[in-house]
Amino acid sequence: METFWTNTAKLPSFPSMTHDVRADVLVIGGGLTGLLCAYHLKRAGLDVVVTEADTIGSGVTGRTTAKITTQHGACYHTIAARYGMGTARQYYDANREALEAYHDIAGEFDLKSCDGFLFSRIHREVLETEYNTLRTIGAHVEWAEDVELPFPVAGALRIPHQAQVHPLKLLAFLTAGLTIYEHTRVREIRGSITTTDNGTTITAKSIIVATHFPFLNRHGAYFLKLYQHRSYVAVVDQAPPIEGMYWEASNSGFTIRQCGDQLLIVGGGHRTGKPGLGWKATEQLVRHYYPGAEITARFATQDCMSLDGIPYIGRYAKHIPQLYVATGFGGWGMTSAMTAALLLTGELIGKPKPWAPVFAPDRTIWHRQLAVNVGETFKTMITPTVPRCPHLGCALKWNAAERSWDCPCHGSRFSESGKLRNGPATGDIKKG
Ligand code: FES
Repeated sequence: METFWTNTAKLPSFPSMTHDVRADVLVIGGGLTGLLCAYHLKRAGLDVVVTEADTIGSGVTGRTTAKITTQHGACYHTIAARYGMGTARQYYDANREALEAYHDIAGEFDLKSCDGFLFSRIHREVLETEYNTLRTIGAHVEWAEDVELPFPVAGALRIPHQAQVHPLKLLAFLTAGLTIYEHTRVREIRGSITTTDNGTTITAKSIIVATHFPFLNRHGAYFLKLYQHRSYVAVVDQAPPIEGMYWEASNSGFTIRQCGDQLLIVGGGHRTGKPGLGWKATEQLVRHYYPGAEITARFATQDCMSLDGIPYIGRYAKHIPQLYVATGFGGWGMTSAMTAALLLTGELIGKPKPWAPVFAPDRTIWHRQLAVNVGETFKTMITPTVPRCPHLGCALKWNAAERSWDCPCHGSRFSESGKLRNGPATGDIKKG
C-alpha cells in the first residue's frame, strides 16, 4: 500500500497464520492502536499475538497527520458541561499520560516536540470558555500573541510541549519482538477461541478489538454509537515553514502542521457518505493564502466519531468479560491510541488507571448525536437504490472525488469495482 508516509519509511512484513496458536492476549488489528497495545502488554510480561487482515499500518495509521496532543479540538468545556469538571480533569490526565508515554519511548521515529495551537477564525468566545475550563482543571495553556497562519484569526490558545511524529517509523519501532500475522482476517470469536478466514484458531484469555470500527455487530451497539468522518489532506510545497501545529476549534475546520519541507493542511471534512467540499476546501485555502505554494500530493483520512466526543475504550460489552475494544478516537487517533494501550494494559495486569471510567464504552448513549445516527441509518436503509452495503444493507453513495462507494450509515467504503476499502463491512459489495 502506497501512502504519503511510505516514501520515507519501510515497514517489516510478517507471515499469515498457518497453524493454531495460544496466547495470553490476542490483539485484532495491526494499526497504531493494536501495536501500541501489544507493545505495552508485552513489556508488562504478557504473551501477545497480533492479527491484521491486510498489512500493518495499511488502514488509518498510514493516512494520519500524526499530531500528538492533549487538546482535541475545544473538547474540555464540552466534556465539563456534559459530565462535570472532574471528568474533564480525568480526560486531561489520561491524555497528559499518553503524551508523556510517547516522550518516554521517543527514539527512532522522528518525534518532534512542539507547541500546539487551537484557533478560531470567528468564535473567540469558544476559546475563552475553553481557556477558563483548562485553567480550572490545571492544564497548561496561554493565549497566543502571534500565530504563524496567513489568515486572520479571532484568537488562539497555545498548548506547550505537544508532539508530532512519523507514524510509520513509529509503527516499525513498535514491531520489534512482537508476534504478528498479516493477511489474517478474523471471522468469528466464540469465548476464548477466535477463528480466522482460513480456519486457523487463536486461543487467548483476553481479546482486544483494535480494528478502527469494531466489526462485531451483535454486541455493544457500536453501529449506533459511532459514525465515520472523512477529512482531506493537501501536501503543500513552497509554503512558509511553521514551528507549531495548528487546529481549528470545529470538526470541519482546518489543521496545519509542518512535515519536512512541506505543510500538511487538512480540511473539507464531512460525514462519510454525505456530500462535502473535500479537497476543494484545502485547494481554495492554498490558492488564497499561500501564493506561490503548490499542492504536490493529497490523501484522505477517516475517523470514527463517538456520540459524546470521548473514545470508547474498555469492555466491548458488559456480558463478555474477556473482550475489549478501543475505538471512537475522533480526529485524535495518535494520542487516543496510546491512551487505549495504557488503559487496556492497566486493566489486563490488574492495575486499572484512575481515569479509565471516563472511557467506559457502556456509558450513557443519550446524546443528540444518537438521534442523528439513527435518523441517517433509517433514511439510508429505506433508500431503494443499489449498490447496497454488505455491513447492514444501507444504500451506498457514489463519492466522485475519491471514485468510491461510501456508506452514510457507519462509513464503510468500497472501490469503484466493489472491493472493500474501509470497514465496518468485512467483505466486498455483493454482485447481482
Ligand atoms: Fe453499516 Fe454500511 S457501514 S450499513
